[in-house]
Amino acid sequence: MEILLCKDYEQLSRTAAEFVQREIEQNPRCVLGLATGSTPLGLYRELAALHRQGLDFSSVTTFNLDEYLGLGPDHPASYCRYMQENLFQHINVPPENIHIPDGQAENPDQECWDYERRMAAAGGIDLQILGIGHNGHIGFNEPGTPFGQTTHVVDLDERTIEANARFFGHDLSQVPRRAISMGIKSIMRARKIVLLASGSGKADAVAAAAEGPVTPDLPASVLQLHPQAAVLVDAEAGSKISRENPELRRS
Ligand code: PGA
Repeated sequence: MEILLCKDYEQLSRTAAEFVQREIEQNPRCVLGLATGSTPLGLYRELAALHRQGLDFSSVTTFNLDEYLGLGPDHPASYCRYMQENLFQHINVPPENIHIPDGQAENPDQECWDYERRMAAAGGIDLQILGIGHNGHIGFNEPGTPFGQTTHVVDLDERTIEANARFFGHDLSQVPRRAISMGIKSIMRARKIVLLASGSGKADAVAAAAEGPVTPDLPASVLQLHPQAAVLVDAEAGSKISRENPELRRS
């Protein structure tokens, strides 16, 4: 697992955007796996800027990691809305190429199967972008999630509900308790993975993911087993990684 130490959030976001740009330039029909949360916002701003300079997304396909169950696409806290506002409105991915789990699916388990089928039909994900939770989750795969799981319905962890309450007017009762998430197995099938982490609050989770044991108790640790995973950290998120780590490079 390559670890790229960036000096700050801006550099982290630019470096992440370069990964995506390279992928699209090598294969204009590539399939991107996308994440939500605060961390990728800088990346999405950079991609919008690259698009204004000519980067073409017209043949790109995207699959998002997860969506809350019970929220429609227009709900201000839905990930569908987040993606529209923060990325898709600013680039030219055709709407039919955009895939986000349906938070209003009548049969959520069926939606999980369909989502896996759609990913497979698209040829699989070429480059997956990930954030990391304070507890080491990736997507909504909370500690204890078996590595073998594909897209599934998740009961959210209390810490995740608390962390996400900021998107629901800080009202815990408004945060959905369930979500659909790609599983660890779905994520690990991606040909390349780039995990982004910013801020001191992520330092412990990042160090454990990069240097601790590979265990479902720390879901991001599974990335140690991936042949092409990169972890991009700013100085604060990378502050607990050993400076002797042979995988560590300065971006
Ligand atoms: P954040 O969330 O980017 O808002 O910190 C990351 C995550 O929980 O996966």
